[in-house]
Amino acid sequence: MKDKSLISITDFTKEQYLRILDIAAEFENNPNQKLLNDHVVASLFFEPSTRTRLSFETAANRLGARVIGFSDSGSTSVKKGESLKDTIMMVSSYADIIVMRHPREGAARWASEVSSVPVINAGDGANQHPTQCLLDMYSIKQTQGTLDNLNIAFVGDLKYGRTVHSLVQAMCNFNASFHLVSPDELKLPSSVKMHIKNAKLEYQQYTELQDIIPMADIIYMTRIQKERFSDPMEYEKVKNSYVLNRAMLDGCKPHMKILHPLPRVNEISEDVDSTAQAFYFKQAENGVYVRQALLAAIAGVK
Ligand code: CP
Repeated sequence: MKDKSLISITDFTKEQYLRILDIAAEFENNPNQKLLNDHVVASLFFEPSTRTRLSFETAANRLGARVIGFSDSGSTSVKKGESLKDTIMMVSSYADIIVMRHPREGAARWASEVSSVPVINAGDGANQHPTQCLLDMYSIKQTQGTLDNLNIAFVGDLKYGRTVHSLVQAMCNFNASFHLVSPDELKLPSSVKMHIKNAKLEYQQYTELQDIIPMADIIYMTRIQKERFSDPMEYEKVKNSYVLNRAMLDGCKPHMKILHPLPRVNEISEDVDSTAQAFYFKQAENGVYVRQALLAAIAGVK
């Protein structure tokens, strides 16, 4: 993985995912390892973020790297009309690794093609979020003891939810059964369903959340991605399609866990937070260990 960019989750093999998860477990046991004292990590966020940016920056700091970058491209020369290509070419002469979030699908791939240093995609539009995917896999393995043969229910915005696209593709390597719960307007794109078909796995589509609760090992809730809708009225129609509350968990499997990439808006009631099923805040914490593992692997020190 040394010097490799991570743009789509399919850029890594199953063996590489498992290697990252093993390294992440080492960092969870021993987070403060100053392995990147001579490194500069650029954190370029052209789109809002709380968890991804701050956990990457925490990961880099815990590894001893220095962090440069921005959380608002409005304060950069992009505002004066500088192209993404020129921005990336400049930053790749300052930093050893670039972490980038951008609202445009394909922007991270384009950046990796013009950069002289590895680029990590921290989310590109509705396309991919591969580092979220790795921390989701880490959380699934941590809660289920395995990644194999699980019933995974994806709920909400399966059309625009980039975390869903990445995780479905990754879990095709682990014989998952996919249960896809969404409004008709927000079904999983056919390009992602094709990965399931190519892996010769099954998926079922539902419109009712209650139908999948008894069978699920993992319920992966998602926010309806308001910022991706071109028509605000379309968003208003679907915005509260699914709200998971504590009473709905009666009859779930005892080991079932609820994941959510966060932020949540209204999809999970706060009365779920204190149940044994809630795992979304620990999931976000896991992002630091997984991102430490990824930075260390790409830097070639793990
Ligand atoms: N999960 C996630 O990508 O969260 P942020 O948008 O806060 O980074």
